[in-house]
Amino acid sequence: MPRSTDAMMGAKPKNLKKAASRILADFRPLLGVFIFVIIILLASAALSVVIPVLLGAFVNNFKNLATKVEGVYQVDWPEVFKQVIIMLSFYVGSALFIWLADWIVVKISADYAFDIRAKIKAKLDRLPLSYFDKNTYGEILSRGTNDVDNISRHMSSVINQTIIAVSMFLGTVIAMFITSWQLALVAIAILPFTILFTVLIAVNAQKEFKKYRSHLGKLNAITEENFSGFKVVKLFNKEKDVAAAFEGVNEIMMKADWKSQWLSGFIFPTMRFIGNLGFIGVSVVGGLLQDPGNMVAFFLFLQMFQQPFQQIGQISSIIQSVLASGERIYNLLDEEEMESEEAGALSTEDAIKGEIVFDNVEFSYSPDKPLIQNFNLKVNTGDSIAIVGPTGAGKTTIVNLIMRFYEVNSGRILLDGVNIRDYQRATLRGAIGMVLQDTWLFADSIRENIRYGRSDATDAEIEEAAKQAHADHFIKTLPGGYNFVLNEDGTNISQGQRQLITIARAIVSKPKILILDEATSSVDTRTELAIQDAMNKMMIGKTSFIIAHRLSTIKNAKVIIVMQKGQIVEIGNHQQLLANNGFYAELYNAQFSGRNPLAEPEQESDNSEAKAAV
Ligand SMILES: Nc1ncnc2c1ncn2[C@@H]1O[C@H](COP(=O)(O)OP(=O)(O)OP(=O)(O)O)[C@@H](O)[C@H]1O
Ligand SMILES: [Mg+2]
Repeated sequence: MPRSTDAMMGAKPKNLKKAASRILADFRPLLGVFIFVIIILLASAALSVVIPVLLGAFVNNFKNLATKVEGVYQVDWPEVFKQVIIMLSFYVGSALFIWLADWIVVKISADYAFDIRAKIKAKLDRLPLSYFDKNTYGEILSRGTNDVDNISRHMSSVINQTIIAVSMFLGTVIAMFITSWQLALVAIAILPFTILFTVLIAVNAQKEFKKYRSHLGKLNAITEENFSGFKVVKLFNKEKDVAAAFEGVNEIMMKADWKSQWLSGFIFPTMRFIGNLGFIGVSVVGGLLQDPGNMVAFFLFLQMFQQPFQQIGQISSIIQSVLASGERIYNLLDEEEMESEEAGALSTEDAIKGEIVFDNVEFSYSPDKPLIQNFNLKVNTGDSIAIVGPTGAGKTTIVNLIMRFYEVNSGRILLDGVNIRDYQRATLRGAIGMVLQDTWLFADSIRENIRYGRSDATDAEIEEAAKQAHADHFIKTLPGGYNFVLNEDGTNISQGQRQLITIARAIVSKPKILILDEATSSVDTRTELAIQDAMNKMMIGKTSFIIAHRLSTIKNAKVIIVMQKGQIVEIGNHQQLLANNGFYAELYNAQFSGRNPLAEPEQESDNSEAKAAV
């Protein structure tokens, strides 16, 4: 699963205006605070543009402060100190205002990130499973981590720097015209060059920078695939191909990297050069005007006047990436949600008995590929139902519908005569124990992994469940027994052992309805039969669904449902189905004779590897 999160970080927002207006809308309640921040920063800019004027006046006035008496300068030190202190206090005041604004905006940004993170978390809980089918985990994860992080890290500097740049620019221009309109015109004359060069350099550097970022994503994907598919790469001798792909991307990155660095390195020297042209112009015109004080003030103005462009040039790519992150976050927050729970939805898990009726159910994952059609089935409380059928027949889909991981397109599923839509999802799922082929264990002790089924289960109950699942024996041989800590994917025990633990977990949850979907596929047949025996005892009076490819294990089920292409093609017990001599008989005989009933294309499965279904 390539996760080009870094590539995404650098991407431009698709709709800049919309993204910006969404972020601004979220900040609207804070309008008053922002106005306050703008005022502070304007005040800071005003203080800093006054300094060159004071300095100019100081220079012009200096001859009055230092008079030559008999060849020796007599300096009026108290007056000089006074003026220096005044100028210093302007600098300090300006810095204090900036610091205050920064503090406020950083706080606002952190609160914003906190809110957005909470919103994303809440949203993910309300999204239907189909959203997770369409988006890779890497992408979803990067919304809540990288994108929020990007916003929270940069939002404050983007806001502050933009306001500071604009107010400094305006303040300087005004101060320049007030000081001397002739010199102001000279200074403004260099402005077009400053803008032109900054934009030119920034745009080109950014192009290279974007190239770098997008290839960084590719590089990550290659590296990740290489490591996660380590064995497969080795097995098929693909090391050379992987290395070649890596080198290709690496080289593009290297070139883009140095070009972007090289180009952005140009900004400062170019600015300095243009600034120097301004100094010369100001010196010439200022010299003609015979006002050294104004000249000094303008040298400082010229510096201050260029800073905003440097700042904006530097943060323009950050602004874009913040907007792009914002856009992606709002796209996620705008995704269609699961139907919200009705106010009166049933939440009485204890009263659930376990009768399930499928009433003319239709369902498909995508509208253009019909899957489950005319599905009718009644399962009485306490019945044990086996579902068999080739790969892609729709067995797991039926389970998904019972669990309300997906909603039926039409028809109804009733639990104890009540549409499952009228139960709270948590109630429905709490009543059902489900064990899948793909085990999910977390990095903790075996005991805690089993307790995950019911948080108040006692140690004795956990061990009893493990015994029923035939896991007790192997657990006791592990160092530490039930306290043996699994690694992240539980890969420090075998796949079959992982399945046994998930079965124990389901048993401990004391479900009203049990669903085993290929839950024992990695366990040897003898253990599988023993588990099923234990299950049968545990599930007396409770409804269970067992999906299995190995027909030998479901032979004794009271009712076997044979599915093909999303429909039930046969129902009966083993003997009846064999006597029918239909599809089931074909599947069953194939398992023992080795003839493959699926040799003719039976179904349009997406699974091109056409795993032997039975
Ligand atoms: N999340 C999904 N999104 C889109 N299509 C899906 C999804 N899950 C399954 N399908 C498709 O629906 C069909 C039925 O899949 P399902 O998982 O129900 O088969 P199955 O009978 O359980 O097969 P298996 O024996 O291999 O487990 C398949 O064609 C599959 O490609
Ligand atoms: Mg399946």
